Amino acid sequence: MKVNLKPRSMMFPAPAVVASAYDENGKADACTLAFATMCSHHPPAVMIAINTTLKRKTLKSILYSKEFCIGFPSIEHVAQTDYLGIASGYDTDKLEDVGFTFKEGEFVNAPLINEYKISLECKLMHTAEVGSHTQLTGEIVNVQADEDVLEENGKISYEKLDPLGYEDVTHRYFRVGEEIAKAFKVGLKYKK
Ligand SMILES: Cc1cc2nc3c(=O)[nH]c(=O)nc-3n(C[C@H](O)[C@H](O)[C@H](O)COP(=O)(O)O)c2cc1C
Repeated sequence: MKVNLKPRSMMFPAPAVVASAYDENGKADACTLAFATMCSHHPPAVMIAINTTLKRKTLKSILYSKEFCIGFPSIEHVAQTDYLGIASGYDTDKLEDVGFTFKEGEFVNAPLINEYKISLECKLMHTAEVGSHTQLTGEIVNVQADEDVLEENGKISYEKLDPLGYEDVTHRYFRVGEEIAKAFKVGLKYKK
């Protein structure tokens, strides 16, 4: 039997990624986001959503600089990534607090966190106000990857990245499980 639950935003599985940008004084900001997904192939683009009604310095910085990076944390970065989602850049230098370092993006003027093994460099394409959040669409103009998360054919290895998963209903982090099937293949048996 199905029951009706109170409406709330949710997505399964959800990621935990980190957006980073420079503020108007050139200071690096970064915050953890579960509201993040891909949204265009051509041009390649991602969409993030940051709360407009609460204290979010990174939102202000992205809207100011119009460029940002998205880092994909691995399981080993769970505590640092959690902290980037608890403390605010208005109060402390979070990257310094967790011992993270950053460098300049190669195609954007935004801080790229060295510890994350895959990062997207994005230029702000579009914003939209959606209820409590500002949706920000970024065109991906470069992807930087650590060589040790790449397969021999140059493709990103999901297993080597070991990405951090997040569950927003009970606020827990997860490791993504093992491969269970090949996409675009396992469903072919139903094709008429
Ligand atoms: C796992 C996790 C996911 C989060 N997802 C979002 C999100 O999608 N949007 C958002 O506005 N805040 C999100 N937050 C909260 C911000 O990261 C948090 O408010 C942060 O302190 C903002 O920092 P800033 O003021 O330096 O930008 C999340 C926090 C955590 C721990």
